Amino acid sequence: MKTLILAGGSGTRLFPLSREHYPKQFIPLVDDESLFQKTVKRALLLSSPQEIAIVTNTDHKFLVRDQLAAIGCDCRVLTEPVGKNTLPAIYYGVREFLREDGSDTVAVLPSDHLINATGSFHEAFLGAERLSKDYLVVFGVRPTLPHTGYGYIRPGETLPGGSLVDAFVEKPDLATAEKYVADGYLWNSGMFCFDAGLFLSECETCAPEVARAFEQPLGEAYAATPPLSIDYGIMEKTRRAAVVPLEADWSDLGNFDALYVALPKNGDANAVRGEHIGIDSSRNLIIADRLVATVGVHDLAIVETKDAILVSARDEAQRVGEIAKALREKG
Ligand code: GDD
Ligand code: MG
Repeated sequence: MKTLILAGGSGTRLFPLSREHYPKQFIPLVDDESLFQKTVKRALLLSSPQEIAIVTNTDHKFLVRDQLAAIGCDCRVLTEPVGKNTLPAIYYGVREFLREDGSDTVAVLPSDHLINATGSFHEAFLGAERLSKDYLVVFGVRPTLPHTGYGYIRPGETLPGGSLVDAFVEKPDLATAEKYVADGYLWNSGMFCFDAGLFLSECETCAPEVARAFEQPLGEAYAATPPLSIDYGIMEKTRRAAVVPLEADWSDLGNFDALYVALPKNGDANAVRGEHIGIDSSRNLIIADRLVATVGVHDLAIVETKDAILVSARDEAQRVGEIAKALREKG
């Protein structure tokens, strides 16, 4: 199996840890390895280094190479002239693979997720590989809340190892997400597995403007293609989708609240990376290189880097993304 790792996005909700020039996937968030490096190690469960390609943007090419070298993995790095979201990135990667050795099964992995349980990850992909000749396979995670930043999948008729996808809805509003959770929909984990030829023909049907653009050389293709995610561009439209359940601890660490949930907690339920003295302080996330002392504070995210300090209510952590906009306006 070939594996494409998508590493071109920028997470703005983890300011000040993640910045435009140092996005979330490259930060050692939960331990000494970045989420990108963890993703490459997961990819090695599915593919040899020669079968793995990273799709990223020119600005991060060297960061990607450095982080690959640090874990001793020599795989291909494809750089996009400009980020146009996930569908062009996947199209580019699939086309490069095809050029080499014809049609093949392709796994697509986002580079900024945390997955605990490599066994069930591997098992889910083996199941998906069996379905991938006939279906674009997505991996469904059982939802824990009506998150509006995810795709929702309604499983239909049972298939060997999975189900047909009856409906796929990307990023619904809150009321719709609440209904979907109650109705047994699954979250889209953002990982995919498909036959390269099937992907290209579904792209032709569902997003012809992207397929047309890629009939040209890379520079022209990226100038011509509209920005589009695979979720809106293909998954919402195709009739050839199947879902395989992923029974693993999965988090996209989308904000500091999600990071708090993923990290181990001490006796006062504080998640601390660094040194912390807490007097009557509980359920806080604390990340800093210096000693942090708190008195009488609860449910906060306190994050320090060399040049900035963030203090946020954990249940408002989603709004940290607004800081990037405020910073841009400030100039
Ligand atoms: N190369 C490249 N170029 N990579 C990109 C680009 C791009 O232009 N844009 C995003 N990526 C990478 C990101 O780095 C991330 O690893 C992955 O593609 C997914 O992009 P996100 O921007 O994080 O997508 P999302 O979180 O809004 O939504 C997707 O993931 C959810 C699960 O986390 C969708 O697939 C949802 O349906 C899904 O629920
Ligand atoms: Mg994401």
